[in-house]
This record gives sequence, C-alpha cells and structure tokens, in this order.
Amino acid sequence: MKRVYVTRELPEPALKPLRNLFETEVWDGNEPIPPGHLSEVLEDVNGLLCMLTDEIDANLLGRAPRLEVISQMAVGVDNIDVDECHRLGIPVGHTPGVLTETVADTAFALLASIVRRLPEGARIVRSGEWGPWSPTFLNGRDLNGTTLGVIGMGRIGRAVSRRCLGFDMEVVYTSRSPAPEVSAERLELPELLDKADHVVICVSFNPETHHLIGRAELDMMKESAYLVNVSRGPVVDTDALVGALEAGAIAGAALDVTDPEPLPPDHPLLRFDNCLVVPHIASSSLRTREAMAGLAVENLVAGLEGRKMPASFSRDPNEESD
Ligand code: DGY
Repeated sequence: MKRVYVTRELPEPALKPLRNLFETEVWDGNEPIPPGHLSEVLEDVNGLLCMLTDEIDANLLGRAPRLEVISQMAVGVDNIDVDECHRLGIPVGHTPGVLTETVADTAFALLASIVRRLPEGARIVRSGEWGPWSPTFLNGRDLNGTTLGVIGMGRIGRAVSRRCLGFDMEVVYTSRSPAPEVSAERLELPELLDKADHVVICVSFNPETHHLIGRAELDMMKESAYLVNVSRGPVVDTDALVGALEAGAIAGAALDVTDPEPLPPDHPLLRFDNCLVVPHIASSSLRTREAMAGLAVENLVAGLEGRKMPASFSRDPNEESD
C-alpha cells in the first residue's frame, strides 16, 4: 500500500479518501512540522500533502527517494522548489479556483476598511477617545469614483476588479497577459502607480515579483493612495514600506501577508495607525478551506493513481496559477 503524509491536521471527512486508499499519517502538532522531522518522514513516503509553511527544497527532495506526488493546500507554491520537482518527475498540485472569490472578498474588505479608516475608528472607540461628532474627525478617502490599480490580473485580480467595478470604481491593471474580458485598462507598472488612487497586489510570488514594490515604486504612488497586499509578503519590500509610511509617501496599507510571517508584535509596521495587518487569512472561510482541503486530496489521489491532477501547478504563462 502506498504511504502518504499530511503536514497539518485537516477535517476528517477531507482525509477519508486518503485513509481509504493509502497508509495515511498526519502531523498532529499545532505548529508546522519541524523540517528535520519532515525530512525523516519523507524517506519512506509516496505522496505528500503539504502547506505553504513547509519549505520543500532540493535538499529535502533529495532525501525522498519514493516521493511520487506533492499536493499543496494553497494556490501559491513559492515554498516548493517546483523546478526541482519537475526535474525529478514529481508533479505538484495546488488549489487555484476554489479560493478566488473568498480571497477577493478579503481584498475588498481590507481596501474598504483602510480607505474608510475603520481600524483607527475601532481603536478610538475601544480606547475611550471617542469624543463628540466633528465634521473633520477621521475624514477618510472614497472608494466610489476612484481608480483601483490591480497588480496581477489572474483569477483573484479579476474577482477583485469585478467587486470594485460594482462599487463605481475604475480599474487599471498590470499583467503578463491582457484580460480583455475585464472592463479595465492595461498599463505598465509605473503608469499604474502614478494613476491609481489605491493599489491591490494580486500577483503570484516568484523571483520576478520579489520586492516588485520597493521604495521607488511606493514613491510613484499618490500620497493619498492606499496599498493592499493579498499575494505574498516578499512582493513588497517591508523596510521600504515602513520608510514610506514614516515619510507619508502613501496614505496607508492593508496587508494580509507580510515579510516576515508571522510578524513579531514589536515590528515597526504595527506602529502605524494607517497600516492594517491581518494574519494571512484571505482564504480562511470555512467553506473555502474545506474546498481547498478537498481539492488538495483529489490532486494527491489522482497523482498517486497515475491520473492527471485536477489542478497541477504549471509555469506556463498561458495557464493561470493565481
Ligand atoms: C494561498 O492559497 O496561496 C493563500 O495564500 C492561502 O490561502
């Protein structure tokens, strides 16, 4: 019987197909599995179902002689050396599609919250600083009638755009390939940063998008503009963002993802009232996490049975990965 290893506890109904077909072991710790332990486990495993917190590098893959398939419960696979997997003939599954709308909901919620200064307002209420109504108190910006810049017009970028178009916003975007089905203008990044009232980052993370947004790019944004990131933390240069917030180069930021993650409680980013940080939860609705677990399991089963995975990761720019 083939052996599979799952690096985080999943709801039992999601695991059932694996338990029925394979000898299945699940890491039961509250923290991610320590790399040394994962390496030991992989010596004798045919299939791995992993999370974005597991670093699957060439070294680890070299110690996994029986590994046939990797299936990750996430759309982004930047924690996996996919090129090495492909060289070794190990297909990599991921979970695009099933999380698109939930992540877009979160991106829109982050955008609306920061632009309308809701975190500041909530903090003021809780701290007892709420004084009498005033015409100038917590004046924020608008969403309606403004222009959103979407960096990365994949599935998630398109879903965010649909929401914003429905809120009477204009959308401009950068993307590897045009998205004619979206009522939006495609621009180069500097033009987008110059034109947009708010910017949402939806690109997938890879060496080309590492620090795509640094101080130069933040300085190209309007001083009144807000930045939202639902991609991966390292797409934004964190030190540059801290500097830009300190200098008032942008109006603020709302981040589902950070670099590092988790962000330590004394991190400079957390000093700013105009910076909302939430702990990488954009896809975390009950329904979506169940769907992600289900698709990750389906991918693993298909791969181990020698069938095409419902969703395997590809670097082909014509195949969307985000
Ligand atoms: C992903 O899927 O890559 C998200 O970051 C986690 O849902």
